[in-house]
Amino acid sequence: MRKIEALSILKNIIKNAYAPYSNFKVAALVEGKDGEYACGVNVENASYGLTVCAERTAMFNFIANGYKNPQKLFLYAPTDDFTPPCGACRQVLSEFNDNLEIVIFNGNDEFKTYKLSDLLPNSFNKENLERNKK
Ligand code: THU
Repeated sequence: MRKIEALSILKNIIKNAYAPYSNFKVAALVEGKDGEYACGVNVENASYGLTVCAERTAMFNFIANGYKNPQKLFLYAPTDDFTPPCGACRQVLSEFNDNLEIVIFNGNDEFKTYKLSDLLPNSFNKENLERNKK
């Protein structure tokens, strides 16, 4: 999908972010090979540690919808910075595609593009488990 379309979807769904504690709203969209996609926002909890980030809700929605092979993650937070995925999200994303392309929009309609493998080199994954099975 074109970046402008992804950004317009993200700007629309970010209103669903549930962030009463941090007031820091984030929206994410995961896209597959044939244009199929799923969205997510951050969902906080009064027990703060149970909060789930937008990236994980988007990826879990993508998988739960039965889609395979995620190719791209579009991420949006209306801040001056380009808000990067947290470490926990990098690990969860890498489960499904180590080479995921990540496009981050800031609040000024600017973007930066990353590869997940650059953000999380040498990730722990299923091969580590399989190679060391007893
Ligand atoms: N958050 C995300 O949803 N994604 C990120 O990439 C960074 C952080 C959320 C978690 C929490 O609800 C709020 O932003 C502040 O940490």
